[in-house]
Amino acid sequence: MVGLFKGGMRLNLKREVDESYDIVFGEKMFEEIAQYLAKTRLADKYAIITDSNVRKLHAGKLENTLKTFGLDSCIFSFEAGEQSKTMDTCMDLMGEMHKLKYGRDSAILALGGGVVGDIAGFMAAIFNRGIPYVQIPTTVLAQADSSVGGKTGIDTPYGKNLIGAFQQPTRVFIDVATLATLHGNEYRNGLAETIKHGVIRDANFFEYLETNLDEILKRENKQSLVIARTNCTIKGNVVEIDPHEKGLRRVLNYGHTVGHAIEKLADFKLPHGHCVSIGMMVAGRISVNQGFMEMQYLLRQEDLLRRVGLPVTIPANISNGEIIEVTSRDKKAKNGMARYCLPEKIGKMCEFGGEYVTHVPNQDVARALNESR
Ligand SMILES: NC(=O)c1ccc[n+]([C@@H]2O[C@H](COP(=O)([O-])OP(=O)(O)OC[C@H]3O[C@@H](n4cnc5c(N)ncnc54)[C@H](O)[C@@H]3O)[C@@H](O)[C@H]2O)c1
Ligand SMILES: [Zn+2]
Repeated sequence: MVGLFKGGMRLNLKREVDESYDIVFGEKMFEEIAQYLAKTRLADKYAIITDSNVRKLHAGKLENTLKTFGLDSCIFSFEAGEQSKTMDTCMDLMGEMHKLKYGRDSAILALGGGVVGDIAGFMAAIFNRGIPYVQIPTTVLAQADSSVGGKTGIDTPYGKNLIGAFQQPTRVFIDVATLATLHGNEYRNGLAETIKHGVIRDANFFEYLETNLDEILKRENKQSLVIARTNCTIKGNVVEIDPHEKGLRRVLNYGHTVGHAIEKLADFKLPHGHCVSIGMMVAGRISVNQGFMEMQYLLRQEDLLRRVGLPVTIPANISNGEIIEVTSRDKKAKNGMARYCLPEKIGKMCEFGGEYVTHVPNQDVARALNESR
């Protein structure tokens, strides 16, 4: 109701929203997706947003399946790769959608890896002031990480992911059968965040990865389903407790302080999973050196990362000084000291007076960097 007060008026627009959504897991799920859309009548028209690789491999099949259920859809794709995660790509795709008369009665289906998820989710937040979207992640990373939490966005010339929105999907379908076509390296790199989840929250899961690694690397659907479910449970649980990154959610940054610095210093030419793997080794070492964690846990982490084929040492062309410089320039650094999430053991992170991060003096970081070469 509009309230009147002397000299003006007030619009009462208190916002109460329930952004809960379901994540469902399975293999060969395109029919299930079509059934869900037909049943819920989410939209009159669907825009399948995908990249050039996934378009060839999976998008046509999704479009055909939707057609057999009488659903109107069209594929909109962009050149695969992080370099496409820009406002220009969003504008091009949205322009094509407008040309084909997509409007408020439409919804987006994000079919692809994290780049597709971030772009399509951001478009869903802004296209005609917001339309629903469904995520169908097709990389290990997207199934483990970017499909939970509702962060969407694009890269800018002044930094990655700097423009975006929190936009939760209507539903996420995790179809592990799509992983079969993923390049071997992409598959292995994606497992870095999976190992991270084990270290930060779940010792049983970490042990499961140690025991079943051979089947996991063969991409058996049974193991892929366990991995996808557990990853989403771990990240989902952290996000539920701390949706806006005030406290606990910081544990998801384990390995990312040094990881992001190396990524930047390597001009984004090294895969994110490699950088996080090295970053976890450095943070783990800091923790051991400070007496927070026993060596045996660090060795288990190193062994699992190595078995997956992830690097555990810092590239020779990047110096300690450069890493310390980049990390201590971060806006959350204090007195030139960067903030680190440190493990206490496999499955548990250190807590520092209710916080999950601590500032580490540069000489301690330098020592751990030296030991990680
Ligand atoms: N929103 C979030 O919470 C969040 C979290 C983590 C990462 N991210 C973002 O995710 C992005 C990285 O995601 P990514 O690693 O999935 O990269 P990506 O989307 O670029 O996919 C990697 C490569 O795999 C290809 N591909 C995807 N699915 C395939 C399949 N099933 N078969 C064959 N090839 C396939 C893609 O075409 C691409 O070449 C980054 O931009 C990062 O910022 C977002
Ligand atoms: Zn990451």
